[in-house]
Amino acid sequence: MSDACKLAAGNWKMNGLRADLDEARALAEAFPKPGCGVLLCPPATLICAMADVLEGSAVMVGGQDCHVRESGAHTGDVSAQMLADAGARQVILGHSERRSDHGESSALVAAKAQAAHAAGLVAIICIGETEAERDAGQTLNVVLAQLADSLPEGTTAANTVVAYEPVWAIGTGRTPTLGQITEVHDALRAALRDKAISLLYGGSVKPGNASEIFGIENVDGALVGGASLKAQDFGAIIAALEQA
Ligand code: 13P
Repeated sequence: MSDACKLAAGNWKMNGLRADLDEARALAEAFPKPGCGVLLCPPATLICAMADVLEGSAVMVGGQDCHVRESGAHTGDVSAQMLADAGARQVILGHSERRSDHGESSALVAAKAQAAHAAGLVAIICIGETEAERDAGQTLNVVLAQLADSLPEGTTAANTVVAYEPVWAIGTGRTPTLGQITEVHDALRAALRDKAISLLYGGSVKPGNASEIFGIENVDGALVGGASLKAQDFGAIIAALEQA
């Protein structure tokens, strides 16, 4: 653990209906005063309702993407200002699923992060190599280039979190070795101008592997997909982070 703020962030992706707000409620009740930041990022349709459920609790709400503009003719998109207005405090940007499904470049991610900062949101910027890039020995080149190109001017520990998510570890049940995570997180920390920026690991984090991952010096928390959907599983990961 470094000196950066600890954060357990849940990315619900395209999962969750109103009935699932019970999981958010259960999490808030289980962690009235968590020893780390706790964040849930539901689909946009649930942000308002989840913010209402979590009002007065220690659990924060975030979005999963935003547009670069504040408003305008962009059918289907949501602006950072709208997320903030709905009760979001943070927004995930540049997730590999958006980079691949929607062709998002690091330059676009940087522009979105700038929009998020302008709206008062913390940007959680995701980077990570594909399996082919790792096999080609390109992991550090890829993630350092993504880091350099995805963080806008004005990035600080107060407005930005970086999440390292190897694409091949997402939703696969496969995780890198502790040595592989250490190598990347050490390189990211060395490359960051503001050393207090929190560095999250993401990709098949589960209650069973969270403690050992949080034992790595430059891992300040996790960005969790599948295991964040149930309060019990995510709660076990939060508890592991509290103790790290
Ligand atoms: P899983 O935890 O389901 O592997 O997803 C990780 C992720 O993509 C979080 O953003």
